[in-house]
Amino acid sequence: MRHINDLSDLTMEEFRELYKLTSNIIDRPEGYADACRGKVLGSLFYEPSTRTNLSFSTAMMRLGGSVVGFNNPSSSSAAKGESLKDTICMVSNYADLIVMRNPNEGAAKAASMFSEVPVINAGDGGHLHPTQTLADMTTILRLRGSADNMKIGICGDLKYGRTVHSLIHFLANYENVQFYLISPRELAIPEYLRQFMKSHKMKFFEIAGLEPVLPMLDVLYMTRIQRERFPSIEEYYSLKGIYCLTAAKLRNAKKDLLVMHPLPRVDEIAQDVDDDPRAVYFDQARYGMYARMALILTLLRQGRQRMPKSVKGLKNMRCTNPKCITRSETYLPIRTHHTEQGERCLYCDQIVAPHFARRFDDMGY
Ligand code: NCD
Repeated sequence: MRHINDLSDLTMEEFRELYKLTSNIIDRPEGYADACRGKVLGSLFYEPSTRTNLSFSTAMMRLGGSVVGFNNPSSSSAAKGESLKDTICMVSNYADLIVMRNPNEGAAKAASMFSEVPVINAGDGGHLHPTQTLADMTTILRLRGSADNMKIGICGDLKYGRTVHSLIHFLANYENVQFYLISPRELAIPEYLRQFMKSHKMKFFEIAGLEPVLPMLDVLYMTRIQRERFPSIEEYYSLKGIYCLTAAKLRNAKKDLLVMHPLPRVDEIAQDVDDDPRAVYFDQARYGMYARMALILTLLRQGRQRMPKSVKGLKNMRCTNPKCITRSETYLPIRTHHTEQGERCLYCDQIVAPHFARRFDDMGY
């Protein structure tokens, strides 16, 4: 069963096919109006969402299918204490495909272990958001043809911004991309991603200032400071408003720059940028809907597969990352992946503390 936890679940060849399908849908949407008739999308949003939730729902409706689910966990059995596993086992009885957003890192990965139908990660805490990357890549490819040889600035909250993590992972597939990772030190990319970039020989510069690099960029990807992920509101306020792109600052930028943003914005792009032809963030959201139509169509070709209801592995240990799904769903078996930096949790990607890895080895797993 193919699930989409991150876009790395697709080969480049599969991505190219998906992009071709997206382009066909953009050019001739009426040809797909019945493509998913009789199919049901289960849409489980445990966290607020406007674009991702609505674009998945409209994508399914434009394909002739229907949608069930919730966008507020307090109206679901999660509020009664139902485990993620049980919810997924139930919903995969009803739906042909599941889209899930959850505040815990690795939640979609965990859900995919129990689901009889494909699961799409629509955002798992501050970790990953692969379908936003589909929206981002569709925008870059439709408007510029390729991402090869681009200088890409990513600015704002690179620590908690899950769209940034998925986008960087995926851009490893392109040639000679140079990254300018613009953030205060407190919001720099997570260590596992830094290691990923180094091991893939990606060129990147971690810097604090936007203005000095703005004139050389081909893409500027602005992001929101992720207030809901900060340990305290004081820490959020100390960094809020740190970047603000304005029409005046854009005077020094390239004429064919793409200004992108996954949205929602707070104060990082001034309203006076919206009418600049280089501002493509609203188009990006529209491309996202078409890309999701293509993804739904592609994944639905698989059908359903019976899954064991229990999974093997160590259950008496938890990942050291407090936001990892294994911390709240304690029946999940711990799984790690060995890297040069230490053991990496297969759910949340964090390098787990050395004592954890040692204890883990001692148990001969
Ligand atoms: C992003 C998200 O939810 O991670 N929004 C989106 O899905 N378009 C970005 C954000 O919330 O800042």
